Amino acid sequence: MQDQTTITPSSARSIQIVPAQVPLGAEVRCGDVPALDETAFREVYRAILDHLVILIRGQTLTDPELIAFGRHFGQLDFAPLARTGKEKARPHPEIIVVSNVLDNGVPIGVLRDAEVVWHSDNSYREKPLSYSALYALEVPATGGDTGFANMYLALETLPADLRHRVEGRTLKHDMTYNSAGDLRAGFTPVADVRDAPGPSHPIIRTHPETGYHALYLGRRPNAYINGLSVAESEEILDALWRHATQPRFTWHHQWRAGDIVIWDNRCVMHHREPFDAGARRIMHRVQCAGDVPRYDPAAKRGSHARAALGSR
Ligand code: SIN
Repeated sequence: MQDQTTITPSSARSIQIVPAQVPLGAEVRCGDVPALDETAFREVYRAILDHLVILIRGQTLTDPELIAFGRHFGQLDFAPLARTGKEKARPHPEIIVVSNVLDNGVPIGVLRDAEVVWHSDNSYREKPLSYSALYALEVPATGGDTGFANMYLALETLPADLRHRVEGRTLKHDMTYNSAGDLRAGFTPVADVRDAPGPSHPIIRTHPETGYHALYLGRRPNAYINGLSVAESEEILDALWRHATQPRFTWHHQWRAGDIVIWDNRCVMHHREPFDAGARRIMHRVQCAGDVPRYDPAAKRGSHARAALGSR
């Protein structure tokens, strides 16, 4: 993470939290993750709630160690729809392999080398994921960067008329396609967005742990704002997405092997740039089960960005 500001020594002696000079993200310097104790993990957890995305560099983890790391942030979820059925079977069902690598012509993982569109993980489920973590085993020399966008800030800066048009409304989240644009096994293409399979969630969501509101958009393709004409829904969604994905809300991570990045899907969207099909990229991912998204109009009205990130 470039352009560091202050280094904040934590109460757990070996941990430093280094915020980025961007609207979200911090590097946590903590040595080897498997050696961290409960006090240290509480510091890491707090850092995610404050900074939304954290990076830990220089790790060498086995799959069981990555699973143990993930369990500190909640109950692990097996993300059944993330699987294509074509990837090579793995001994640890908690781990999703994200990769373009083929083993004897069989993909070892999901999402290929394609661009992965902006999204929040598993918004197409009744209970979307809370946290997701990616651990980089092999990365291309260039390309395949992952971008993150701060959805508290996107909401705080939403033009008042647009906010008024979505306040209290729900959005239908389509489960037909994955974020690399692949039709999921067992689904058929969507002819009318109003009939797309998937749950509805509030467009403005109250974070269950911080109490602040965030814009909750899921994925753009086949989304539909309930109760509106398709034309009006499309117009508002286009405006929301133009606003929410502006570079001023984002941070892009250029991966090194040994990096762990963990993010909070309740207030962050992410996006992956495409990369050279001839390069190898292997990431192991764990994810935590979340709650049914809710909107509580009486919850905190202040700015998460100002409260948690101070001068950034
Ligand atoms: C994902 O959306 O979880 C994949 C992101 C990445 O491959 O960087």
